[in-house]
Amino acid sequence: MANYEKSNELLKRAVEVTPLGAQTYSKSYRYYCQGDSPAFIERGEGCYLYDVDGNKFIDFVCALGPITIGYNIEEVNNAVKEQLEKGISFSLQAEVEVELAEKVIEIIPCAEMVRFVKNGGDATTSAIRLARAFTGRDLVALSGYHGMHDWSIGSTENNKGIPKDISNLTKTFEYNNIESLEELFNEYPNQIAAVILEPIQANGPKDNFLQKVKELTEKNGAVLIFDEVVSGFRYALGGASELYDVVPDMAAFGKGMGNGLPISAVAGKKEIMKQIEDGIFVSTTFGGEALSMAGSIAALKILEKPGSYDHIWKLGTMLKEGLEGLIEKYELGDVILVSGLPPHCGVEFEDVGSLDYLDINSIYSQAMIHNGIITVGINNINLSHTEKEIEAFLSAAEEAMINIKKAIEQDSTEGILIGKKVNPVFKRNIVEEN
Ligand SMILES: Cc1ncc(COP(=O)(O)O)c(C=O)c1O
Repeated sequence: MANYEKSNELLKRAVEVTPLGAQTYSKSYRYYCQGDSPAFIERGEGCYLYDVDGNKFIDFVCALGPITIGYNIEEVNNAVKEQLEKGISFSLQAEVEVELAEKVIEIIPCAEMVRFVKNGGDATTSAIRLARAFTGRDLVALSGYHGMHDWSIGSTENNKGIPKDISNLTKTFEYNNIESLEELFNEYPNQIAAVILEPIQANGPKDNFLQKVKELTEKNGAVLIFDEVVSGFRYALGGASELYDVVPDMAAFGKGMGNGLPISAVAGKKEIMKQIEDGIFVSTTFGGEALSMAGSIAALKILEKPGSYDHIWKLGTMLKEGLEGLIEKYELGDVILVSGLPPHCGVEFEDVGSLDYLDINSIYSQAMIHNGIITVGINNINLSHTEKEIEAFLSAAEEAMINIKKAIEQDSTEGILIGKKVNPVFKRNIVEEN
């Protein structure tokens, strides 16, 4: 086992002062085999991470999506440093705000105007507020995850602390099931302000699903919002909207747009966005923070170079097909499911015998970490990954599958699992069949 002494020491201190010892659920120790995994990272370089004990890993989490280019990218660093010399936040606007807004409008199909905020949830929440104001309606139809705000989390089972009156305003529909959205419009005629969805879920839209959602939304006078916080700048420069040629009324971006810098954006039709000028409230102190703006401009200039997304899709396809091949080789098709499109794809697990899916997940996670791979199931590909890192990933995944097979045969993780079983806060294990 690698040495995680410093990680473990830091974790002991962290859990005393911060819930779960982390600022984000999915970065917490509960997502890895505690005791046999790193908990703290010191630095990143390209697609590699170095933990506080000096262990080196190939990273496929990409900071939960933001790292689209790689860590410590010179052009992005230089842009940030140059801006730092001038200042971080000012009392009036900085030129970089206009420059970035123009760039986003050039790239994003629905963007006639844009406003910058900080987190993905700020952007989705802004879009929802603008849609409600625009339509004079209260209900929201959603599909996917849209951040920590009441209107969004109120629709999940983690809805304690959210008033029922707010939760009741959000209705859910199923991805790739147009009838489920149709039913909502029938049940709540003229009441739905917005339809918001992650445009790419599971293996992507089927049977013109996005086009049908657009038609239905238009017919019913609701605002269509694509939550492109994950899909934006990851599957294509212009996100799912560009990839599937469906233009929503509004879109929310975050994660991928600044290669790790804290920046997000709500964008859309001028008539909807302009309501902000009438006091429909979308305003934050740090919305125009200039380091993130400068870094984001530099990041987008790299991402827009020809071949960027071919690279991401090519390596993602290699990873995805490699995983499928291994699952077939080890006859684990009932236990390990491959999900997602190549730029953002990976595995999910099923219960088997007396092992539950988290047992399987733990064995997988352990083998990956032992082989120097950081993953939480779904993997993000960035521009710094090469075939060499994908090969290393697949070789680690093969060891994971051999161990999983062994655990299934003995119907226990005994002698296989060294660290603690993973125990995520959100227990999700969903693969769409269609
Ligand atoms: C699709 C989607 N929308 C919104 C969010 C919220 O973004 P943030 O955590 O930056 O607020 C996330 C975060 O994972 C997301 O995946």
